[in-house]
Amino acid sequence: MVVWTDAERKAIQDIFGKLKAEAGAKALIRCLIVYPWTQRYFSSFGNLSDAAAIKSNKKVAAHGEVVLKGLGLAVKNLDNVKATYAPLSVLHSEKLNVDPDNFRLLGDCFTIVVAAQLGRAFTAEIQAAWQKFLAVAVSALVKQYH
Ligand code: HEM
Repeated sequence: MVVWTDAERKAIQDIFGKLKAEAGAKALIRCLIVYPWTQRYFSSFGNLSDAAAIKSNKKVAAHGEVVLKGLGLAVKNLDNVKATYAPLSVLHSEKLNVDPDNFRLLGDCFTIVVAAQLGRAFTAEIQAAWQKFLAVAVSALVKQYH
């Protein structure tokens, strides 16, 4: 089981509290542009032909919010992320067939968005807690892959 210090819990909850609603969309847009092979999973989303199309795609924006809410679920269940994410892990593995390497890539995009939104408040200590949180979330998402 993951052990969280009070400072880590506070840092993660604070970051999440400060994140603007569009953070999920920004992270997903960045992921689709920087790592173009991730577009293949979103073939039902319509036009993703270039950066401008991805940025103005309403389905991408809406799904970014869904992913952000998914991360919020882990924030609310820090002591039980594995069980909380078990259904999501099964979905991404068995139905969506998402290569699990991509979770970390999307996580990195979230980190960049968080850093840009928090500015100087995103200190090394705060980043350490955030990266630990992402590592726990990614590991839980990968758990049901076999
Ligand atoms: C931080 C990691 C991620 C989280 C928290 C997350 C969360 C979610 C959530 C909450 C859903 C909706 C599930 C439902 O409808 O029951 C979803 C769907 C989906 N996810 Fe993820 N996801 C993550 C990473 C990824 C990555 C890296 C990809 C592909 C590169 C991906 C591809 C998809 C696709 C294709 C769907 C279905 C979209 C649709 O058709 O509406 N996810 N994800």
